[in-house]
Amino acid sequence: MTVGAFAKRSAVLGVAGLLACDGGQSLLTNDRVPGDPYPSSIGGAGNVVGSAAFASGGLDGSSTASYYPVGIGGTGIVGQGGSATISDSGVETDADSGVPPKLIGAPLIFTPTTSGFGLNAVLAQGVPSQLKASVRKQSSRVWQSPLSPTSPALDLAQWMFSGLEPGQEYEYQVENASDEQAAPLYLGSATTQRESGATFTFGLLTDSHIEPPDAVYTGPGPEQTLRSVASDIGSAHPDFMINMGDMLDFHTAFGFNGAPTDSAYVRGAYMRYRSALGDALGNAAHFPVIGNWEGENGCFTADQIELARSQRLLYVPGPTPDTYPQSGSSAQDYYAFTWGDALFVVLNVMSYTTTVHLLDAGEPGAPDDWTLGEAQMAWLQETLEKANSKWRFLFIHHTVGGAAGDYDNSAYGRGGGQAAHVGEQAVVHQLMQQYGVQIFFYGHDHVFTDMVVDGIHYTLPGSAGAPWKFSSSETGYSSYWTDSGYGRVEVGPTAVDVQFVASGGNVIYEYQIP
Ligand SMILES: [Fe+2]
Repeated sequence: MTVGAFAKRSAVLGVAGLLACDGGQSLLTNDRVPGDPYPSSIGGAGNVVGSAAFASGGLDGSSTASYYPVGIGGTGIVGQGGSATISDSGVETDADSGVPPKLIGAPLIFTPTTSGFGLNAVLAQGVPSQLKASVRKQSSRVWQSPLSPTSPALDLAQWMFSGLEPGQEYEYQVENASDEQAAPLYLGSATTQRESGATFTFGLLTDSHIEPPDAVYTGPGPEQTLRSVASDIGSAHPDFMINMGDMLDFHTAFGFNGAPTDSAYVRGAYMRYRSALGDALGNAAHFPVIGNWEGENGCFTADQIELARSQRLLYVPGPTPDTYPQSGSSAQDYYAFTWGDALFVVLNVMSYTTTVHLLDAGEPGAPDDWTLGEAQMAWLQETLEKANSKWRFLFIHHTVGGAAGDYDNSAYGRGGGQAAHVGEQAVVHQLMQQYGVQIFFYGHDHVFTDMVVDGIHYTLPGSAGAPWKFSSSETGYSSYWTDSGYGRVEVGPTAVDVQFVASGGNVIYEYQIP
C-alpha cells in the first residue's frame, strides 16, 4: 500500500468519534490484537476488576506489599494499607507501631546530572521517615553524610543527591535510620552525567506490557520476559536505560487501550514493572517514554490522563523542565539531555494526538494525523538547533505517522522508517536531516528491525515483555527478528555501536556509525 492510499477518514466520521478513545469496558468485543496468543483469557472471570481483587500480593517475593498503602500523590486522596492509615485523629504510621521499613524491589535512579541524581524508593511497609540514604564515590571507602528523604507519597522515599562529580560512578545505600547495625535495605550504584569525550553504554528496552499481578489477559509471560531481559541489561552495566513506551498494560481491567479509571491499579502496574526490572533498576538510571498503554493517550479526557500521569510522576519520575538545559515538558513526557558526546531527545507521540487510533476498522484516526502538537514540535526544533553534540538520537514510541502492512496498522502508527514521509513524521524527518540526527529509536511493533532512510537509521530494539510479535503482514517489514530482548548501545567520541541483544544475551544484529 502506498502512502497516497491513506485517506483521512476522520473527516467523514463525525465529531463524536474524535473526542474520546476510551475503549473502556468494551474489551470483550473490541479487544483485537493481531497475533494475540491469549484470546481465550479475555472472557475469564470478571474482566473489570474490583479494588479488592488486587489489593494484596507480594512483588518481590514478600507477601507484604499492598497496592493501597498510599496517598495518591497530587490528588490528596489517601488510602489505607501497609504503610499508613488515616483516622480522624491523624496519620497513624507503621513507625508508630514499630514496624521495620521494607522496600519493594530496587530503588529507581532518575535524573542523573553532572552533579547528582535522584533516588526513589517504594516502601512495602514502614514509612519514609524511617529511612536514610548516603553515597560514596566508587573508589572511596567513606560514605557521605546520610540524608533524610522527602516523601512525595506516603509509601515513597525520595532523595536528590547533589555536590557530586560528573561522569563518576557512585555507590548508594538505603538504610533503616533507627537501626545502625542492620544491613542496608539496598546497596546500588549510579553514574553521574558524562561529559564530552567519555565512552559509555546505555540500554534500550520497550513494550514491556506489564499488568498488575492479578492480570488474566497477558498472564505471567511479560513479567518473566522482562525479568530475563532486565538481567541481561544489568550484566551490560549501562549508565542508564530508556524504556520507549508501553511500560504497562491494562487489557485485563480496562480493555484495549482503555483509559484506566483507578489510580491504584496504575500504581500496581508500575510496582510490578519496577520489581521485574530487578537490580538493573537499582544500578542504572531509568528514563521513561510515553506509549499507548501508559493511560495518557490524547483522546482520553484530561481527568483520565491525570489519573495515570499522577502515578507515573510518582513511581517512574523523569526529568523536569529544570533538570537539564534542554528543558522539556512539565508533564515530564518530553525532555532532552546530553551524555558524553550524544544528545538524547525523548518525544511523546501519544498525548498530543486527539483522534482515536484503536486498530479497528471504522475509527477516525488516520496514518497521517498523528502529531506532537505545536509546543513539542517547536521545542524539538529549538533543541536540535541548539545542539552541539556529535551524536544526536531521538526516542519515541512510534513514528508521527504510520505506513505498515495494511491501513489499520498504518493508522495505529506502525511501520517505522516506512513512514518517514507520512504526515508529521515528514516534518520530523526533515528536521533530522537538517540537524544531523543519526538514529531515530522507536518501539511499538515488538520486533527488532532497522531501516536506513536518507542516511538516518530507524531502529526498533525488539520488545522486553510483550507476548505479541507482529508479522510482516501487520508491520510491512521484510527483515526483522521476533526475539524478545533489548538494544545495547555503546557510544564513544568517534563511533557508536548499536547491538540487538536477544533474551539470554545473544547479539543477533549489530551496526556502527559513522
Ligand atoms: Fe506495545
